[in-house]
Amino acid sequence: MLYDFTYYNPTRIHFGKDSLAQLKGELVNFGETVLLVYGRNSIKKIGLYDQLIAILNESGKKVVELPGVMSNPTYEKVLEGGKLVRDNKVDLILAVGGGSVIDCAKAISVSAYCEGDAFTRYWMNFEPVNNEIIPVASVLTMVGTGSEMNGGSVVTNEELKIKAGRVYGPEVNPKFSILNPEYTYSVPQYQMVSGVFDIMSHLMEQYFSGEDNNTTDYVIEGLLRCVIDNVRVAIKNPEDYEARSNIMWSATLALNTVTGLSKTQDWEVHMIEHQLGAYTDCAHGMGLAAISLPYYRSIYSYGLDKFVRFATEIWHVSTEGRTKDEIALEGITQLELFMKECGMVTSIRELGATKEMLPKIADSTVLGGGYKKLSKEDVLEILERCY
Ligand code: NZQ
Ligand code: ZN
Repeated sequence: MLYDFTYYNPTRIHFGKDSLAQLKGELVNFGETVLLVYGRNSIKKIGLYDQLIAILNESGKKVVELPGVMSNPTYEKVLEGGKLVRDNKVDLILAVGGGSVIDCAKAISVSAYCEGDAFTRYWMNFEPVNNEIIPVASVLTMVGTGSEMNGGSVVTNEELKIKAGRVYGPEVNPKFSILNPEYTYSVPQYQMVSGVFDIMSHLMEQYFSGEDNNTTDYVIEGLLRCVIDNVRVAIKNPEDYEARSNIMWSATLALNTVTGLSKTQDWEVHMIEHQLGAYTDCAHGMGLAAISLPYYRSIYSYGLDKFVRFATEIWHVSTEGRTKDEIALEGITQLELFMKECGMVTSIRELGATKEMLPKIADSTVLGGGYKKLSKEDVLEILERCY
């Protein structure tokens, strides 16, 4: 059933080949100074940087830049951005890139005027944000996280070895996001596939939980089928607009909170990946991929009917002559075959994890879970199985 909910998402989306044409009209709504936040070199390579600077200049904006945002953005980078905001009295933070760049922009937005240590206050103690929040907007170039239409921000504190995520209220959502699937043509296959598993993981984290059996479950199944079909096309032809656009919009829908409505939700794969990422700096989606199979094999029996539904609805597993356990496990096997077909990583060793790291990762993982609440020992066992 659908439990009571209120739904509100304030991000305006401009989607499609000509979506950048909307930027000028959006910029009118903000003050003079724009902080342009971006990654290492991809936006310059694809010519987007020059286009953006031209539009910002034509719009009469003063541009301050924060280049070099790394994957798994660090708190140090956030502090560097915060100083730029204060020194230049920034009115809008325009993030151009993937989830790391957008998350970093949101982190700068909430922490620039925070008194005291923002990481401790906002990412560890989950204090409400009472200081000024600088508006954020985004131009998306790498698909997966859904950060373009949510209030999430994941930051790595290298000193503490903690990668922490927080979902802020709608005041932190990008005010607008520009989504042109053509910008993603240049994303290398490893990154694209990592992003695709991230989308699938967001959907599965929300699907494998409770006995809700509601509209959201059907929406999730449709999105999973869409992503599975379209990534196969995009691997063969990275410039297939239909495939890239379908993947891009699925990613946004998978984590703009629509697919979490009336769902109890799990998120333990993400919790384990965050600490794996803190120790290895792995690509987020690949970390999720490596953890998911042992995790689902260890918990499926606690949510047996849902795993049977996953097997039959997503992978068309035949039920004839099979027990529920056999059907559910065959569904996970089909997921594994698909992951291998796409080149997704299925071992954390390949991502740089060492045996010595495993107890530290297990000890620092936030415990929760959907069908089964995990203990630290359970997490360690899962890590050993995906090593
Ligand atoms: O630095 P550049 O040169 O831009 O290269 C980037 C980066 O190396 C490259 N890239 C981006 N657009 C490109 C491109 N290369 C070629 N052509 C383009 N058009 O892609 C690489 C990866 O980018 P990144 O932003 O790190 O990837 P992703 O979007 O997967 O973001 C991962 C981060 O988001 C967090 C993750 O934990 C991780 O820190 N997440 C954020 C969430 C949220 N805000 O809701 C939820 C997620 O579950 C996730 O935790
Ligand atoms: Zn994710």
